[in-house]
Amino acid sequence: MPLIDWNESLEIGFRPIDADHKRLVALLNELHEYLVSGSSLSLIHSAFQRIARHTATHFRHEEALMAESGYPDAPNHCLAHQELEKQMADLLQRLDEGASVFSQELVDFLKNWLINHITTMDTALGHYLAGQNA
Ligand SMILES: [Fe+2]
Repeated sequence: MPLIDWNESLEIGFRPIDADHKRLVALLNELHEYLVSGSSLSLIHSAFQRIARHTATHFRHEEALMAESGYPDAPNHCLAHQELEKQMADLLQRLDEGASVFSQELVDFLKNWLINHITTMDTALGHYLAGQNA
């Protein structure tokens, strides 16, 4: 079973962002699959690195849209992005130091963060962008 089933409640109605989110969900499902099937640490590690890279690219994408459109809640939204990126950077550093950081708890944390962020902050951004293009 996938960790996250993509469904309409995860669509914010702005296609380029929805496409980024779908890809993030697929990458998280991949990491989850590697963990539950007992894959090698190197596979798990590279899956997590893909998530970190895609997250950074995606956040810059959203932040550029917020800047271009004059989105009023941009400071809060960018702060939420920064906090997650800092947590991911800490995890990557601990990994490099040889710590075992992967667990169902970590995957659940990422899942809950993503779903919560998409359904609140990103959905609000989607409504704003839709209003601008109306
Ligand atoms: Fe966001």
